[in-house]
Amino acid sequence: MKTERLDARNPADLARAGELLRAGELVAVPTETVYGLAADASNPEAVRNIFTAKGRPADHPLITHIASLAQLPRWIRHQPEWLEPLARAFWPGPLTLILERHSDVSDVITGGLDSIGIRMPDHPVLLPLLQQFDLAVAAPSANPYQKLSPTSAEQVLAGLDGRIAAVLDGGPCGVGTESTILRVGPESAEVLRCGPIAAADIQPYLRVPVLTPALHAHAVSGNKKMHYQPNAPVMICSPDELSVRLASTPDCAALVYSDRFKSLEGPLVRHLPAEHPGYRKALYATLYALDCAGAQQILVEAPPEDAHWADIQDRLKRASAR
Ligand code: TXA
Ligand code: MG
Repeated sequence: MKTERLDARNPADLARAGELLRAGELVAVPTETVYGLAADASNPEAVRNIFTAKGRPADHPLITHIASLAQLPRWIRHQPEWLEPLARAFWPGPLTLILERHSDVSDVITGGLDSIGIRMPDHPVLLPLLQQFDLAVAAPSANPYQKLSPTSAEQVLAGLDGRIAAVLDGGPCGVGTESTILRVGPESAEVLRCGPIAAADIQPYLRVPVLTPALHAHAVSGNKKMHYQPNAPVMICSPDELSVRLASTPDCAALVYSDRFKSLEGPLVRHLPAEHPGYRKALYATLYALDCAGAQQILVEAPPEDAHWADIQDRLKRASAR
């Protein structure tokens, strides 16, 4: 299969992306977090092809992306009272909510679970596209199973060229890591995957306590210890350890952000912004660039232990798991 490269700035290309999706084809689309591998969520055959293209196990549930609240009744059994305040505060945006699924929703999307993950992405290309073509799309991140999520069309093609009908190039993703996933229960709410929206950001909108993810790290299938991995092995190092390792293996790749390494130089040294949104936006793109540059191993300076960096700590832990 030849993968078409479509440019989101070109109206004919946008229309082509919508038509391909409507026809049951797979199209990688930009979202504010990472690129998603989209299929028409109302077409189980199309959704099934996502798993083949990614090499993803069939029991890993997918997130369904909607463009308006009016689409919700098609996907969920009922609208809990907590949904509206959360949707008003965070949608469109990087918050995925786990809801009771409508009985018509295909098992292919939910991996056989009684629930469905839904979010409204905040992206100037994707949102109007879904609206115009009256679509909801099931979309995991557009990478081969367990690999780095892509934050550019180029990175999508590096992993899936020839396996999908098209990629819609909407430029680099602004957020750069995957959405926060939240499950709200009668006694408490749990962050199943930490992300750009922290538990503390969500708490004011819920009456139940919002639990942090450490206790629930492997609560669902698809939430795996090894994930988000570049080709080169990743090792997280304290600053001291990083200095020692670099001294003995100077050709190692290094990802640093603190002042201590400000003047560190080398063909495989990359400096990330020290503030959280900037670091987050650059992280996957930089790991991908180091793979492309031929890195054999990537030493990563340990991120701050601050609760606000929980999403980065989580992604790096999984990226370095063996
Ligand atoms: O930012 C994002 O969320 C990106 C963009 C494309 O929207 N999507 C994404 O999808 O990261 P994916 O498939 O790589 O990760 C989705 C995760 C699954 O691995 C699973 O853990 C969780 O969402 N999930 C989906 N449906 C669920 C459900 N019903 N219950 C619990 N977890 C669910
Ligand atoms: Mg993924």
